[in-house]
Amino acid sequence: LRTPLASIQGYTETLMDGALDDQQNNMRFLGIIRHNAERLARLTGDLLALSRIELKTQEFRFAPHLVNELIAEVLDTILPIAEKKPVDLKQERAPEGTPVFCDSEALYQILSNLLDNAVKYTPAGGAIAVGVQSSPSGGMLEIFVRDSGIGIPAEDQPRLFERFYRVDKARSRELGGTGLGLAIVKHLVRAHGGEVRVESLPHHGATFFFTLPMHPPAGWPETELHPQFTPS
Ligand SMILES: Nc1ncnc2c1ncn2[C@@H]1O[C@H](COP(=O)(O)OP(=O)(O)O)[C@@H](O)[C@H]1O
Ligand SMILES: [Mg+2]
Repeated sequence: LRTPLASIQGYTETLMDGALDDQQNNMRFLGIIRHNAERLARLTGDLLALSRIELKTQEFRFAPHLVNELIAEVLDTILPIAEKKPVDLKQERAPEGTPVFCDSEALYQILSNLLDNAVKYTPAGGAIAVGVQSSPSGGMLEIFVRDSGIGIPAEDQPRLFERFYRVDKARSRELGGTGLGLAIVKHLVRAHGGEVRVESLPHHGATFFFTLPMHPPAGWPETELHPQFTPS
């Protein structure tokens, strides 16, 4: 939080101390201020999201959905970013009608964080795929995001989901993340009773997997909608 704030304060003061008259530099300084304000906004947004989940003040709207449809909606929003790089982004569709019981907004957050990373850490010309593992077990569905990017060394993998943990600090800062994305992903997945994990070989890409329930728990939604009918 301090670094972007210090930068905003520093450049604002420089401008007020006379640099404003320097036509060459004032636009550049304003650009730096805007860039750091954006970073600060992302960071506060991510910190708020994380604390809401941890304090359990985040409200989830669990409901039955079709997994292919939810994944397709997220891909639509990421596609322009993938095309800009460019990396190939495709969906591997589950059998039609495959259900998932989740908060659709949370699934959107999970997938957009994983896809944002996949695009960032995959060089131009690479490939990213999102899909569902073919053999769900124990009523859980396993969704994956696979990329052909730089990969993650084995020794970093256990700590990857900790807040602010980065494999390469300099590179990650340059790429503009907050270091909170995977911590948010882990908490959102856990709130659904699922687990998240990663498989990767350096320089051979990374695949993130997470599980979500396919079906509502027994008794849903009756207890939810009609609490007066709950047996005492
Ligand atoms: N798909 C990926 N390929 C390679 N490294 C990754 C990938 N996803 C995440 N990482 C590593 O994990 C770190 C943490 O990710 P994240 O919590 O999303 O933070 P951020 O993206 O803001 O750096 C990243 O800084 C990066 O080092
Ligand atoms: Mg990220």
